[in-house]
Amino acid sequence: MTYTYTDRLPEDFALHQLRTDVRVGLTATPKWLPPKWFYDKTGSDLFEQITELPEYYPTRAEASILRERAAEIVGRSGARELVELGSGSSTKTRMLLDALVAAAGPGAGYVALDVSESALRSAAAALADDYAGLVVHAVRADFEHDLGLSAAGPAGRRLVAFLGGTIGNFEPASRAAFLARLQAALAPGDRFLLGADLVKSPAVLVPAYDDAAGVTAAFNLNVLSVVNHVLGADFDPTGFRHVALWDARNAWIEMRLQSQRDQVVDVAGLDLSVPFAAGEHLRTEISAKFTRDRVTGELAAAGFAPDGWWTDAEGRFSLSLWKVV
Ligand code: SAH
Ligand code: AVI
Repeated sequence: MTYTYTDRLPEDFALHQLRTDVRVGLTATPKWLPPKWFYDKTGSDLFEQITELPEYYPTRAEASILRERAAEIVGRSGARELVELGSGSSTKTRMLLDALVAAAGPGAGYVALDVSESALRSAAAALADDYAGLVVHAVRADFEHDLGLSAAGPAGRRLVAFLGGTIGNFEPASRAAFLARLQAALAPGDRFLLGADLVKSPAVLVPAYDDAAGVTAAFNLNVLSVVNHVLGADFDPTGFRHVALWDARNAWIEMRLQSQRDQVVDVAGLDLSVPFAAGEHLRTEISAKFTRDRVTGELAAAGFAPDGWWTDAEGRFSLSLWKVV
């Protein structure tokens, strides 16, 4: 089969939204940038390398849950269509798709939604080749603004998956807003499948975000290249160092870039000069880690009721299923 590709981002999305984010984030104290800008082709490829690092356990832990539970999850959902937010390479998704095609038969549908065109196209092309009976739609959109769920919905129930722990990359207020919007967009009977990373020792967490091979450092620094390319900035990536910190109070990992000297970065496209002091930090990502109580509380506050909770054998990562109240 072939796949459809729809770009639902405004033509000037990168230019317009990145301009706003860079102007707001780099003139704030402390400085910050949102993590969605990591994912150009280089960033998406680096993320795939991260998923194979010995220190980065979340992908393997979530895959081990799916290996055991995908058929049960899909069966419980009764879905004919799987919609995945932030689908990336859709690799783990294949376990859900195998179960979906087996249960729903021909006409089963998969909607992959991501900001990264390169990740979407390579994932969708491979899936279309490998799954004869599956209708594959690739949708380029920003899930903070567009969940890819049409009002009419599919012929049958939907299962919306948000895997990998990407829920942890939201700021808490944005996470609550995202969950409420998702709940409002789902029909009665639809299900939401959430992958959430769990609180654990910083001795495990910090190396997962500061690996020995330096892949996460390259991923973090890549955001500076994105700003250089799109907005004509003159960041020198060698002038910054990757930092990963565990913030116990907020229960999240922070990735930051630390300026190695006093320097001024010019962002030509914004007519903006950004001074960095030696040692100053630019926050590029939070990655929140959860307890079962926190997941349950936040999902309940957004109007979801529990329909299943699973972890890997070592209790590192959770998958949970939710229905609309
Ligand atoms: N779900 C995959 C990929 C996780 S990486 C996995 O579990 O391995 C996070 C993915 O979310 C990337 O592919 C990135 O491009 C996408 N993403 C990040 N912010 C996004 C946003 N605001 N809207 C849509 N996709 C986003
Ligand atoms: C996509 N997201 C869940 C990853 C995470 O673990 O927060 C992104 C990442 N950042 C550094 N390594 C991986």
